[in-house]
Amino acid sequence: MNIILCGFMGCGKSTIGKLVAKETRREFVDLDEYIVKKQGMSINKIFDIYGENHFRSIETDAIKQLIKKDNLVLALGGGAVLKEKNVELLKSNGKIIFLDVTANTVFDRLKDDTTRPLLNTDDKLAEITKRLNERLPVYTSVADKIINANNKAKEVIATEIINFFK
Ligand code: S3P
Repeated sequence: MNIILCGFMGCGKSTIGKLVAKETRREFVDLDEYIVKKQGMSINKIFDIYGENHFRSIETDAIKQLIKKDNLVLALGGGAVLKEKNVELLKSNGKIIFLDVTANTVFDRLKDDTTRPLLNTDDKLAEITKRLNERLPVYTSVADKIINANNKAKEVIATEIINFFK
């Protein structure tokens, strides 16, 4: 069984996932990093050259490969659970934890970030707010456990996740 972290860009999936993996002696995999390595190019470049739809099919392929493994802590990309097929695959061998953050938290963390193609717009806060509101019902409904990840030390959040699996 795998521990899977979902949530919006900048919610802390990778940072917290690494901590949980270390504490529970699991392998940590970041889905975006896995894709970047396999494709030999950045997420920005994949979006630029091939477009979002192609990225989404690469993402599904990566999930298919990774979900065969066991004892992973898997940090998803923020859009990975929007496809039902992905959720079905993920749930076949894992439990999904949703790290819930507000649009303001995301904006504070990502205001100077240029690595998220979907947020490279003039009004970043508006884009974050719109997309987060659209996605919240999905994140909430796919989650086996929802954790408020605003204004909390990463260690505290990691402990909450670990306790859920005890
Ligand atoms: C995306 C989130 C990104 C990455 C891509 C698309 C999204 O991952 O997969 O830019 O649709 O929310 P992070 O959530 O790790 O930033």
